[in-house]
Amino acid sequence: MRLTTRQFLQTTGLFAAGLLLAACGKKEPPPAPSAAAPASAAAPAPAKVYVVGTDAAYAPFESQNEKGEIVGLTIDVVNAVAKKAGIEVKFVNTPWEGIFNALGQGDRDMIASSVTITDERKQTMDFTDPYFDAVQLIAVKEGSKITKFDDLKKAKVGVQTGTTGDEAVTKLLGKTNTAIKRFESTPLALKELEAGGVDAVVADNGVVINYVANNPAAKFKTVSDKAFVPEQYGFAVKKGNAELLGKLNKGLADIKADGSYAAIYAKYFGAAPAAAAPAPAASK
Ligand code: ARG
Repeated sequence: MRLTTRQFLQTTGLFAAGLLLAACGKKEPPPAPSAAAPASAAAPAPAKVYVVGTDAAYAPFESQNEKGEIVGLTIDVVNAVAKKAGIEVKFVNTPWEGIFNALGQGDRDMIASSVTITDERKQTMDFTDPYFDAVQLIAVKEGSKITKFDDLKKAKVGVQTGTTGDEAVTKLLGKTNTAIKRFESTPLALKELEAGGVDAVVADNGVVINYVANNPAAKFKTVSDKAFVPEQYGFAVKKGNAELLGKLNKGLADIKADGSYAAIYAKYFGAAPAAAAPAPAASK
């Protein structure tokens, strides 16, 4: 059978339309799994994101701003270290109580929370080189008769549970002494001092100084004492995680060497780290 020109055009037109449809249709369905498999196998493995636990109630080291973002000196240091080390990190606000359990259980890869490096903690976790020097400092109300650490023997003392401040006060007053009031955060302890529920608070100098400076209405003063042993903050990783520890130590060394650590320090404390920890100068 022979086609007329018109019939031929109609036929080819249909044929062309059919091709077009087929071409369009082909784009629609997702690629068959068999075709996708080799492609995804060739793609680079997604970079590991290290989960960093921090108790973000510890300004100016780690706290939450109005937007709910976790900020502070510790955060800046970790970010700078991570950049040098070529790793990705994500901060997760984690209550101090249980923060080390979260590390041990693998819920966090690292703890960056102004954690003092202590021999006791070293038994259950590994620490990086130090990134900040600190010491305990006493906060009292203006006019308080407390002028030295030993005076706390006759006082109600607020501390954050399980901190080195808690340890120091526990050593002085005795583990079961009910004059020790333990709080889940340092700001809560300081609020209680303001409310008159405790006579003093013992906590890290940087945090106490920051709180006193930002809460003039609380009318606090600080009391330093040579009895407090110098402390150093480090980042904690799970015991045996030499890979991450190595990366962090390398990054830390790099930011100390190239001046970026000094810049971060100055941003929060306005002085070079050579001046060590913020002067725990007792105000009167
Ligand atoms: N440096 C003290 C310690 O290691 C207190 C740290 C508390 N940190 C915090 N983010 N609440 O015990």
